[in-house]
Amino acid sequence: MVAHRFGGAWTERKLSALRDYLAQYQKIFTTNPNARKLKTIYVDAFAGTGDRDTGEDLRQGLLFGYDDETQGYQEGSVKVALSLSQSFHQYVFIDNKAKHANALHNLVNSEFPNLANRCTIEKSDANIWLQEWCRTQNWRDQRAVAFLDPYGMDVEWGTIVAIANTKAIDLWVLFPLGIGPSRVLPNQEIPESKWADRLTKLFGTDEWKSQFYRENGHVDLLGNKHDSITRIAGVDEILAFFLKRLNLVFERIVERPMILRNSKQSPMYALCFAAGNPRGAPTAVRIASHLVQD
Ligand SMILES: C[S@@+](CC[C@H](N)C(=O)[O-])C[C@H]1O[C@@H](n2cnc3c(N)ncnc32)[C@H](O)[C@@H]1O
Repeated sequence: MVAHRFGGAWTERKLSALRDYLAQYQKIFTTNPNARKLKTIYVDAFAGTGDRDTGEDLRQGLLFGYDDETQGYQEGSVKVALSLSQSFHQYVFIDNKAKHANALHNLVNSEFPNLANRCTIEKSDANIWLQEWCRTQNWRDQRAVAFLDPYGMDVEWGTIVAIANTKAIDLWVLFPLGIGPSRVLPNQEIPESKWADRLTKLFGTDEWKSQFYRENGHVDLLGNKHDSITRIAGVDEILAFFLKRLNLVFERIVERPMILRNSKQSPMYALCFAAGNPRGAPTAVRIASHLVQD
């Protein structure tokens, strides 16, 4: 088994919401007479290995604020999806690490051989692969749930737009609330170059600069003008900005996502949900809203 260390108690909440949503989704798509005619696909774009070794990992802990609250091997999202009592017609798993993609092949062949012919495993960059896939599929007779579960600020806005444009995919996306933007935004200046580009890719606009910072100017007693910049956005404002962007491209979203906190109660991620299909969106958002409640 390839060790893939990450997470803490908060990952259990995240995967539990995903598990329950996928189960309810498949229930609808196997019982509703109209929905039954459609093919269903589960896409896990930052798939990992299928298992999570939740033992201590100092390097990732430092980088991402993860902790070691839960010990031992736990199911990862891929195993959660493959273990459903009502299976999807197709599974797409993407990871950019060869070691993780190989582990997924082994997992499927050894533990889920009856689903092997439904699984596509891609060792690719999720943003590139997904954008092309969303654009080239025929969405008239199929629907999908996509789960984007990155460590940090790896999901590009272009990927979210590509998913929304299909009008056929429900999206669960982990937004790196406390460990992403809020860590790279300085208090007294707007970040430039590398981090600015990264934030613009994350939000799909550079409007974050004017939303997150205020320019102050004052003239001193000698008549000299002083300009300064202050960051005015905390985690709440950053999340509100992301949700506003999500709402622009999707049919409906969950207005109050699940906030995942570490053992010190610091917010780390927001588990956000957006529904793409105009007919299915009200039901999808109703179910997801219920699942993300504390
Ligand atoms: C937080 S882990 C995913 C955990 C998984 N969802 C689970 O529950 O077991 C993030 C994964 O994304 C992969 N990854 C990071 N950047 C990526 C990218 N640009 N494209 C595809 N995979 C990526 C990493 O190799 C890692 O396996």
